[in-house]
Amino acid sequence: MKQIYFLLIGIFLIGTSAILIKPDIQSQSTKRVIDVEQLSVSDVLLMLGDDTLIHHIQQVDPELVKMGEDLVLNGYTERNGKKSKRISKHFVCTDCHNLTREFDDITSENAAERLRYAKANDIPFLPASTFWGIYNRTSFYNKDYVKKYGDLVVNARDSLYNATQVCAKYCSSGRYLEQWELDAVMQYFKSLELKIKDLGLDANTLKNLRKMGKLKQAEKEDLIAKIKGAYIHKYDATFLETMPREQRKYGEGGDPANGEMIYEESCMYCHANARLTYLSLGKNKLDGRMFWNNRTSYRDQSLYQIVRHGTYSKPGRRQYMPLYTEEKMSDEQLNDLMAYLKQLAEK
Ligand code: HEC
Ligand code: HEC
Repeated sequence: MKQIYFLLIGIFLIGTSAILIKPDIQSQSTKRVIDVEQLSVSDVLLMLGDDTLIHHIQQVDPELVKMGEDLVLNGYTERNGKKSKRISKHFVCTDCHNLTREFDDITSENAAERLRYAKANDIPFLPASTFWGIYNRTSFYNKDYVKKYGDLVVNARDSLYNATQVCAKYCSSGRYLEQWELDAVMQYFKSLELKIKDLGLDANTLKNLRKMGKLKQAEKEDLIAKIKGAYIHKYDATFLETMPREQRKYGEGGDPANGEMIYEESCMYCHANARLTYLSLGKNKLDGRMFWNNRTSYRDQSLYQIVRHGTYSKPGRRQYMPLYTEEKMSDEQLNDLMAYLKQLAEK
């Protein structure tokens, strides 16, 4: 078994070298340099002798990647000349998940840093975690999601396949993926995996990586630890209760500019022109008034309630609103949002 493994790595190395080794022009010699920064993180970890990921994919298949991308963006793709069956009538994956980087420092899961990055890069601020780098993560639906999905997430915790299935059926109010769809989505995830250049490794670490083949075991282990310390392996999920009335600040001391950003890039992402729900939200005085007038309540129309609990999918009304965990929206950000809505309500 071990021999086969090394043989595969050998074939892989020869394969990638053929693409990545380019002549070193400066020295005018035949010396060759591997551009390690372009290599994917999981491939480099394997080369250094780390364990294989459960969802490891040996070979990227561009055709499957494209199909996976279609499925994620549109919910269907074209297969054998025919349009495939939609995953969900109500959602596509990108209603809740971004496809890009979400933090400057990708070891962080701090809500304020996530918002700062979204603002600077003009990307939505969504209730679920990004697919960028999901291939490199090893644990899913962490911490409190078991409260919402129970046993379903127990099997999804350590399996990207199962996590995808749970989300396709339950988070998307859709159905389980067929095997070919699942393979295509995994291939697409693989195409969004982290590259060494994304990790911000220091020059010395990069230098060591370039001479990877000549390193001693201990040095390789050191590199594995450095690489693994440079990105997040799972996103935590802390559910908060609806804030008790006496703790609500109703926007007092909040930052309305931050709140406006959250309103536009999160709430309106789904609610503008009633895209996903009957509730249409825009930047009108009446919208501000609805939230302002319901500020002390514990009903769904109260900002304090809806953000922490979302709504539930029910027969005849399958579209629902996902809750925001503390990691995806902090209490401070909630207060910023209220400060903005207060301003909008002209109160
Ligand atoms: C209505 C919102 C919504 C939709 C639509 C949705 N998801 Fe999710 N998804 C979530 C939430 C919320 C989580 C909880 C964990 C997280 O991402 O922070 C999640 C988690 C996941 C996870 C585990 C991520 C992790 O780091 O824990 C995967 C994989 C996933 N979804 C795949 C998909 C795929 C594939 C689709 C489309 C077929 C999809 N999701 C559609 C809301 C959604
Ligand atoms: C992923 C899409 C999505 C996001 C993001 C989202 N919502 Fe929702 N929201 C929904 C859906 C779907 C419903 C369910 C309403 C329905 O049945 O059409 C809903 C319901 C609501 C309701 C309850 C409506 C009622 O009368 O019961 C309120 C209030 C609300 N959302 C406010 C917000 C606010 C404020 C934000 C931002 C912090 C937000 N939503 C973000 C999709 C979303």
